[in-house]
Amino acid sequence: MKICCIGAGYVGGPTMAVIAQKAPDVRVTVVDMNQARIDAWNSDTLPIYEPGLDEVVKESRGRNLFFSTAVADEINAADIIFVAVNTPTKTYGVGAGRAADLRFIESVARTIADVATSGKIIVEKSTIPVKTAETIKKILAANSRGLSFQVLSNPEFLAEGTAVVDLHNPDRVLIGGEKTPEGQAAVEALSSVYAHWVPRERIITTNLWSSELSKLVANAFLAQRISSINSISALCEATEADVDEVARAIGHDSRIGPKFLKASVGFGGSCFQKDILNLVYLCESFGLPEVAEYWQNVVKMNDWQKTRFATRIVKTLFNTVAGKRIAIWGFAFKKDTNDTRETAAISVCRDLLAEMAEVVVYDPKVPEDQIRRDVLGAEEGEAGKRLIVVNSAEEAAQGAHAVAVLTEWDEFKTIDFAAVLAGMPKPAFLFDGRNLLDLDALRELGFTAFGVGKA
Ligand code: UDX
Ligand code: UDX
Repeated sequence: MKICCIGAGYVGGPTMAVIAQKAPDVRVTVVDMNQARIDAWNSDTLPIYEPGLDEVVKESRGRNLFFSTAVADEINAADIIFVAVNTPTKTYGVGAGRAADLRFIESVARTIADVATSGKIIVEKSTIPVKTAETIKKILAANSRGLSFQVLSNPEFLAEGTAVVDLHNPDRVLIGGEKTPEGQAAVEALSSVYAHWVPRERIITTNLWSSELSKLVANAFLAQRISSINSISALCEATEADVDEVARAIGHDSRIGPKFLKASVGFGGSCFQKDILNLVYLCESFGLPEVAEYWQNVVKMNDWQKTRFATRIVKTLFNTVAGKRIAIWGFAFKKDTNDTRETAAISVCRDLLAEMAEVVVYDPKVPEDQIRRDVLGAEEGEAGKRLIVVNSAEEAAQGAHAVAVLTEWDEFKTIDFAAVLAGMPKPAFLFDGRNLLDLDALRELGFTAFGVGKA
């Protein structure tokens, strides 16, 4: 069997690397129109950082795992084609700011129809609005030249930073297909790939639309838990309750469960906000404004949490940060990834720069040019002079009036805080946006320390 995956990003790359590792009898090729990205996948420095990924790629690359820009040839050779191209939020026209931009999906469908000389199974991996499979099917049917195409939905549930572990041991694999004999045969063909390492009872099959919708709903529920606990964090700060204690207490209820109850500076990442906005847009399109508004509030609460964090810094620093140096520890949207899409750090840095602070950022994995582009955009302007990126947490804190922890990188836990404190003007403030550090210990050292949802 031959598999081709279009899109060598955070989803396509790791997913295909694990399929190739676990199914050595399957030939897997990942294609991308971005030559630099493909070159990186073929080099010793992969384009994305994921713990354990280097080893997985090294094991299979050149054996049954290949990275290439020969899109047409590889599509033509494949039996199963995964589509893992990006589906950003539309920035123009109807639905701008909310609906998914499906132009890459459509162009991929047209390319497949153009170049295929035999029937194919097309698998949607990208998160897309419900009924996108229908669009792909229509484009393929109108250009099929008598070939038979089956479209499946197989959403990816891996989380960044734990992609390899999640792929090796998924809670479930979801495959949606048509209830026709051809559709069911396609579902079985894809199931047999995963069955190389995933127990059959964890492979869930549904109709196409249920599968597409389940991906949006899973992310909406996860994000909702974070917004719920973050809303409570504001109440905790006002009442001297401790949000971690509240989370632990409610998480012991087996009906609630302990996961995704960590209060934070706000969720980021490429999926949560985008998928909720998609869901909201869908509900509006189907005449369900109450449902749309319900989910919109999850995003609203998250935006508020990010602003609230920056505002708390300004207020605490005697209502002015103008000319003050603020250290930002961590810029990625979570630890163990170099991904910065929708990271809360962008919002916090912008708010502090708008207050005329000097913002000094350190992140172990995110390069300086990425941080500058995310915060400042194409034009650096005056604020560009006040945004500084450095190579260590200690360097960022040197001379800073406050340190803000925005990503829960492990290395921040083992820092020599006494030395950091010595290099800061007093009072020295620390704002832990991840509730990562021992606030009591920091206070004993002499910091004025705050967490999220803590007095
Ligand atoms: C993307 C989407 O963001 C997500 O919603 C979906 O679930 C999976 O695909 P990700 O892998 O993180 O996730 O995206 P990204 O890292 O941007 O990778 C997409 C790749 O597709 C890029 O390398 C891009 O060059 C490539 N691409 C895009 C093509 O090869 N052809 C196209 O027509 C469009
Ligand atoms: C998410 C889903 O978990 C995954 O199943 C889906 O395939 C893609 O979207 P990802 O965005 O990679 O994965 O990371 P995730 O671990 O879900 O974290 C998302 C954001 O929520 C991060 O910014 C994280 O810091 C934040 N978060 C998570 C919290 O603030 N509190 C929590 O308790 C959990």
